[in-house]
Amino acid sequence: MKGKVLITGITGQDGSYLAELMLADGYEVHGMQRRTSTVTTERINHIMHNPENANKVETHYGDLADANSIVLLLNKIKPDMVINLGSMSHVKVSFDIPEYTAQVTGVAPLRILESLRALDMLHVRFYQASSSEMFGISPAPQNEETKMLPQSPYGCAKLYAYLITKAYRKGYGAWASNGILFNHESPRRGENFVTKKIVRAAVRIKMGKQKKVVLGNLKAMRDWGHAKDYMRAVKLIIEHDKPDDFVVASGEHFSVEYFAQRVFGAMSMHFEDYLETSADYFRPNEVPDLLGDSTKIRQVLGWKPEYTFDTLVQEMINETWNDEIKR
Ligand code: NAP
Ligand code: GDD
Repeated sequence: MKGKVLITGITGQDGSYLAELMLADGYEVHGMQRRTSTVTTERINHIMHNPENANKVETHYGDLADANSIVLLLNKIKPDMVINLGSMSHVKVSFDIPEYTAQVTGVAPLRILESLRALDMLHVRFYQASSSEMFGISPAPQNEETKMLPQSPYGCAKLYAYLITKAYRKGYGAWASNGILFNHESPRRGENFVTKKIVRAAVRIKMGKQKKVVLGNLKAMRDWGHAKDYMRAVKLIIEHDKPDDFVVASGEHFSVEYFAQRVFGAMSMHFEDYLETSADYFRPNEVPDLLGDSTKIRQVLGWKPEYTFDTLVQEMINETWNDEIKR
């Protein structure tokens, strides 16, 4: 066994890919799972039920809003690494539940770091899932030195978490790193993020199951990569010989409109024929243009993405198509 890793957010898009990567490399994986009234383990069922992973992976009930559950888990598992991917991760929803977002996305990393400090475990490696949303309206391209001007309750919460992680590193010598990840997608992406929403709608329209797609701001530019590539970057960051902060990005940006044209075009349809826009999907503040400069991680850790924009889009279409056939 290479070491014990505790992953918060293991049931999410990123948590599922990261758990696969860590298990494949010989880590014992522990995941924090919150109690929900419906099943949320679809993304990790194949991992949990794989006989090859017997005794190598376990989930534990806990909640990032509950400091006691965090202390108890850390004390019980005694991990070598804590990777904090858990969060209320939807930017638009953060305007509806800003205080909850501050607690779970912003203050939770402090709860983890303070728990590690109270348990005399600050040597445990800690990774914080920071976000390009923190750059807000700072002009593109953005890198580790770019001014952070977040525009949403989510972005503000992530900025607090990013800064507190740095403060514990500087002040207490905590082994604490930030990955500042730009948007990353996959077939496992949540259904209400724009890429998955567009792909699902296009597939269903092609199959005659749906008539239109209702969207908000089409002009926003995003730097989209594949979650698998970005979780490889997270592993490199937590395994690095010292704690540090890294931007992870593809270095290309496209508009939401272009993404939709590309998806519908791949199925021989014109996006504009099926588009409706609604104020419901616009945000009070928008982040207009995210484009990452990931020179540092490419030079220091040798990371580079394997997927391109086109292979990402095609994989999302193929897997969503297969999924719709089964429904
Ligand atoms: P995701 O699919 O929304 O997953 C979020 C995870 O957090 C889920 O496992 C969720 O559990 C868990 N969670 C939510 N509230 C919790 C709570 N109160 N206590 C414990 N766990 C809780 O997000 P993702 O795309 O994998 O992103 C992973 C992390 O990276 C997040 O912190 C996100 O903010 C950040 N990030 C994402 C991107 C991106 O483009 N994907 C870019 C930059 C940063 P349930 O399954 O029960 O909901
Ligand atoms: N979700 C959504 N739904 N977004 C829409 C829609 C719609 O119907 N129509 C247009 N958009 C626009 C949004 O206004 C935004 O400009 C862009 O599409 C991307 O929206 P999301 O896919 O929701 O992602 P995000 O960029 O707001 O946030 C994601 O990336 C961040 C990193 O930059 C999330 O994964 C965050 O957790 C992450 O930190």
